[in-house]
Amino acid sequence: MDTLDGRVAVITGGASGIGLALADALGAEGMKLVLADIEQGALDRAVADLSGRGLEVVGVRTDVADFASMQALAQATLAAFGKVHLICNNAGVSITGPLWELSMDDWRWVYDVNTWGVIHGIKAFVPTLIEQGEPGHVITTASLASFGPTGEHAPYCSSKAAAWSITQALYSELRAWDTPIGVTLVCPGMVDTQIHRSWRNRPEGDRPWSDRESADPEHMKGSEVFQGRGIPASEVAAATVAAVKENRFFVFTGEHWSDFMANRVQGLASGANPPVVTWGRDLRPKANA
Ligand SMILES: NC(=O)c1ccc[n+]([C@@H]2O[C@H](COP(=O)([O-])OP(=O)(O)OC[C@H]3O[C@@H](n4cnc5c(N)ncnc54)[C@H](O)[C@@H]3O)[C@@H](O)[C@H]2O)c1
Repeated sequence: MDTLDGRVAVITGGASGIGLALADALGAEGMKLVLADIEQGALDRAVADLSGRGLEVVGVRTDVADFASMQALAQATLAAFGKVHLICNNAGVSITGPLWELSMDDWRWVYDVNTWGVIHGIKAFVPTLIEQGEPGHVITTASLASFGPTGEHAPYCSSKAAAWSITQALYSELRAWDTPIGVTLVCPGMVDTQIHRSWRNRPEGDRPWSDRESADPEHMKGSEVFQGRGIPASEVAAATVAAVKENRFFVFTGEHWSDFMANRVQGLASGANPPVVTWGRDLRPKANA
């Protein structure tokens, strides 16, 4: 989609981090914006800030894990602006811990947002994009973690691997049908956002990730790994806008992604055992625990 000016973008998880930076960057290109987020207060602040800077923006409280909520978002978008051209399936959450110790609710929450959120976004918006017959684009914010399973991060990595697979299949289908709809997969490494506080938007409310996590300082390091680290979200947003304009599928950011991918591919091609990758915490049960 080479022209963004005057067209309509929807951004899930638009109230914080990469989503908010995308809103900023797409607004600067002249796009009309629909910010969708589950966190009402942050959403209101983001909308006020962007509209205060002269951008045309509406906020719609949305839970990407709920298909009815995503359908309502699509309707609200058409009611506000009459059309939709770009859907950014960006909302995502993270959790860490030994995979057999995480609760079923932990697993379901991450898959509901990171994988089902992408499926819901595609189901709610792509039929309208096709019917419109105009240039359009679908973005999924996946992760470098889509390509690298890491111990203590299994729900996140596996849900993001599914997001990659789904989005690449969508790319093939939309290309094979000769639609004017592009697809982009955003695969950042570490980005300085609020993802280390993902639990703030869990359906059960503002509570620790798991009972063990709150009791064990080793667990808390999982959240601290992210805090204040990584590249600025604005860098990811700028690279993503460029990819949309140039109709490119992959967006990789940061310095080390190419080495990371080369190692992964060479390892797979050799058939050797995979590297042992964890977050480096000692989570083995304590002797007297
Ligand atoms: N920060 C990183 O290092 C990093 C790296 C790779 C990929 N990502 C991905 O980037 C995307 C954006 O995350 P971020 O890092 O900006 O984190 P963030 O926490 O700053 O922003 C995520 C936004 O998603 C919203 N959200 C959470 N659950 C939701 C739901 N059910 N429905 C609607 N909105 C919901 C949150 O309220 C928040 O505004 C995610 O998909 C994340 O997995 C982040």
